[in-house]
Amino acid sequence: MGGSNFIMLIFLIALQFLDPCFALPLCTDSRAPFTPKAKLEFCSYNGTSCCDNADDLRLKKQFDSMNVSDSDCASLLKSILCARCDQFSAELFRVDSIPRPVPVLCNSTTSANSTQSSQATNNFCSKIWTTCQNVSVLNSPFSGSLQGKAGAPIVSNSTKLTDVWQSQKDFCDAFGGASDDESVCFNGEPVTLNSTGIPSPPSGMCLEKIGNGSYLNMVPHPDGSNRAFFSNQQGKIWLATIPNEDSGGTLEFDESNPFLDLTDEVHFDTQFGMMGIAFHPKFSENGRFFASFNCDKAKWPECGGRCACNSDVNCDPSKLGNDNGAQPCQYQTVIAEFTVNGSASQPSKATKAKPSEVRRIFTMGLPFTAHHGGQILFGPRDGYLYFMMGDGGGSGDPYNFSQNKKSLLGKVMRLDIDSSPSDTEVSRLGLWGNYSIPKDNPYTIDADLQKEIWALGLRNPWRCSFDSARPSYFMCADVGQDQYEEVDVITKYGNYGWRAYEGPYVYAPRTSPGGNTSVNSIRPIFPVMGYNHSDVNTNEGSASITGGYFSRSMADPCMYGRYLFADLYAGAIWAGTENPISSGNFTSNKINFTCASDSPLECTFSPGSSFPALSYIFSFGEDNKKNLYLLTNSGVYRIVHPSRCKYTCAKEKDTKVASPSPVSSPPSKANRLRGPYKSLLALLSLLCLLLVNFV
Ligand SMILES: *[C@@H]1O[C@H](CO)[C@@H](O)[C@H](O)[C@H]1NC(C)=O
Ligand SMILES: *[C@@H]1O[C@H](CO)[C@@H](O)[C@H](O)[C@H]1NC(C)=O
Ligand SMILES: *[C@@H]1O[C@H](CO)[C@@H](O)[C@H](O)[C@H]1NC(C)=O
Ligand SMILES: *[C@@H]1O[C@H](CO)[C@@H](O)[C@H](O)[C@H]1NC(C)=O
Ligand SMILES: *[C@@H]1O[C@H](CO)[C@@H](O)[C@H](O)[C@H]1NC(C)=O
Ligand SMILES: *[C@@H]1O[C@H](CO)[C@@H](O)[C@H](O)[C@H]1NC(C)=O
Ligand SMILES: *[C@@H]1O[C@H](CO)[C@@H](O)[C@H](O)[C@H]1NC(C)=O
Ligand SMILES: *[C@@H]1O[C@H](CO)[C@@H](O)[C@H](O)[C@H]1NC(C)=O
Ligand SMILES: *[C@@H]1O[C@H](CO)[C@@H](O)[C@H](O)[C@H]1NC(C)=O
Ligand SMILES: *[C@@H]1O[C@H](CO)[C@@H](O)[C@H](O)[C@H]1NC(C)=O
Ligand SMILES: *[C@@H]1O[C@H](CO)[C@@H](O)[C@H](O)[C@H]1NC(C)=O
Ligand SMILES: *[C@@H]1O[C@H](CO)[C@@H](O)[C@H](O)[C@H]1NC(C)=O
Repeated sequence: MGGSNFIMLIFLIALQFLDPCFALPLCTDSRAPFTPKAKLEFCSYNGTSCCDNADDLRLKKQFDSMNVSDSDCASLLKSILCARCDQFSAELFRVDSIPRPVPVLCNSTTSANSTQSSQATNNFCSKIWTTCQNVSVLNSPFSGSLQGKAGAPIVSNSTKLTDVWQSQKDFCDAFGGASDDESVCFNGEPVTLNSTGIPSPPSGMCLEKIGNGSYLNMVPHPDGSNRAFFSNQQGKIWLATIPNEDSGGTLEFDESNPFLDLTDEVHFDTQFGMMGIAFHPKFSENGRFFASFNCDKAKWPECGGRCACNSDVNCDPSKLGNDNGAQPCQYQTVIAEFTVNGSASQPSKATKAKPSEVRRIFTMGLPFTAHHGGQILFGPRDGYLYFMMGDGGGSGDPYNFSQNKKSLLGKVMRLDIDSSPSDTEVSRLGLWGNYSIPKDNPYTIDADLQKEIWALGLRNPWRCSFDSARPSYFMCADVGQDQYEEVDVITKYGNYGWRAYEGPYVYAPRTSPGGNTSVNSIRPIFPVMGYNHSDVNTNEGSASITGGYFSRSMADPCMYGRYLFADLYAGAIWAGTENPISSGNFTSNKINFTCASDSPLECTFSPGSSFPALSYIFSFGEDNKKNLYLLTNSGVYRIVHPSRCKYTCAKEKDTKVASPSPVSSPPSKANRLRGPYKSLLALLSLLCLLLVNFV
């Protein structure tokens, strides 16, 4: 390996670790910030905040109980209590590690450039110390050590900072911190992010075609290898080897020898089929994986389950009518568990699964024949299974299922498939199968909610993903009805508005036998991106969004950090750019794309064109190297170096030498490492890279 390549690799690794990866605006209870009904009286946070008026009152009481006589110190302590209301409070209080009783107080700026405004950042911590050190404070949040203090009973003794902390250094070692590229600290003011400058849209996206099959799902092999599972709508899963870029190779697998064939069980039709596959995070040890598909109980007795249209949700199955000749709940949505045990010495070596179902996780009868999402994904941070479900069909969600807290239609569900419920639990909780309820699901906030629900108000979530660099960015595209296709950031207990809203617009249903939800009764979270139907031309005269991924691949450095999504019919692709980074403020641009002239399989479209007619973009995929793929009915396309299509990307030149190597992904917040460990990790990754390149 040449010296310059070596330096390039170090540069690449540095780049990966400098990647800003702190959270988006998020509250300490993991919910999205919101606008309180009335102005907050005590904490001066206005606009979007994490406090409602009750929180504000509680903070005022806490402040009063501190009985601070010195007015300068009092005003600083008030700002610290009120940091709970900041839209970045989850980050300020570091809720993903050991939550703190007070926010991280800025004690200096670090050498790395901060994305937070630097002016007021300096030494807020020392300001607290100098102003408050001799002031008596009752119920001081600073008394005692930091660890495990959140929620602990507060000693009512009057304390001065000097009673507990020897010096400013002691105090700021405990409570201070910096705003760096990974996190924000509190400087006495609401957090504001510096604009990173809007990067201009990429000049174009270059694709190579590496497969000619039509798939709905691509899931990288959990063992980290260059293999991925592909499933089609009919019900087959294949395990394929992905060729290296520039190798001229195509997907390698034996089509006649699928990993699993469920075509006998799966009911396949326009909107039905195998909708999702997910591999247990510990698949390499336990061999567990899951398929989400539709079935027909008239043809397969094991298919039947409770009907989603029932008296609990004010729905009478006999009044549904028979859509396309189907009886209500003839078709079902199921999640079934499978295993590779017994087919190889280790799960990673398995090339075939046992065909028989190990366990049925979930079964629910569908009221109509459309909008039943069906994607399944394991949360990268919590290991729970997220299950995306549409409103069940019918124009305008006639039964108001998406807003109905007792219905699982129009929801993102969150299930624990690692602990089995007892039979009594299943009947007591009214579960739809063999799973448990995570203890922090949002029913703990709102007792009216069905316990499986994580987020509500969706119409038909079609392709969701977690940003592999920032797991708190859980992105879902939600298919619209008449006007607007949207992209949402899914948060705990978030209500995405459907059917009171379609995207940003108020929606009035044509019929509403199931009752109505008034616009004023909900607090919707509006999409972060999207497009009007009038923005796309399609043969079908209709539009349907397909959600993608945040690009974390260096194959196209100009695409790095942008969120890609598409229109299924129009064959149009957009890149969403967040500015400032971590603000949740996105703009999106339709981007040009074309196929590399040296594509391994022939591509049939030319520069500036969209995908040819009848070529639908069903889905996106991401492999273990974070390269991105388009799954279309004309085949599988990989996003490659822009120069292969003669697109210019100024950053490409710098990174091309090293891009074929498997570069480790940027650290996730889940295992964010600080200080010396970071450099240690960087060193380890470097060693891994060297091994990969030499061995
Ligand atoms: C919000 O608060 C800031 C500072 O307290 C003030 O300058 C601004 O005008 C307020 N905005 C609104 C809409 O009240
Ligand atoms: C609050 O402080 C004042 C003096 O600043 C003192 O007189 C009063 O007793 C204190 N109240 C409590 C409840 O300790
Ligand atoms: C920090 O910002 C300054 C000015 O914006 C820039 O010149 C400098 O290169 C940056 N340093 C780093 C380490 O990014
Ligand atoms: C933040 O933005 C301001 C205004 O553009 C700039 O002067 C300042 O240097 C920026 N701070 C950092 C840390 O980049
Ligand atoms: C706090 O008390 C210490 C020791 O008595 C003294 O040196 C210091 O000046 C005092 N600080 C303030 C702000 O009064
Ligand atoms: C502090 O509180 C503890 C128990 O709450 C009590 O035992 C102790 O005497 C108090 N100390 C002072 C100085 O008031
Ligand atoms: C700032 O806080 C960090 C984290 O607690 C600490 O390591 C560092 O020493 C502090 N810096 C100063 C100047 O106090
Ligand atoms: C699809 O690709 C495979 C392998 O690359 C090839 O054997 C097959 O003939 C192709 N089918 C079509 C219709 O092009
Ligand atoms: C498969 O094997 C793993 C490891 O021995 C075990 O934990 C798991 O329970 C097995 N699963 C089934 C379905 O037998
Ligand atoms: C629709 O929502 C409203 C308010 O959220 C509720 O009153 C009504 O019962 C819901 N419809 C059904 C079928 O539950
Ligand atoms: C959102 O992004 C746009 C375009 O990048 C920018 O003009 C605008 O200032 C941003 N808004 C906020 C609140 O940062
Ligand atoms: C996309 O291609 C069209 C036609 O070739 C061209 O007019 C347009 O400027 C391109 N857009 C971008 C963002 O490069």
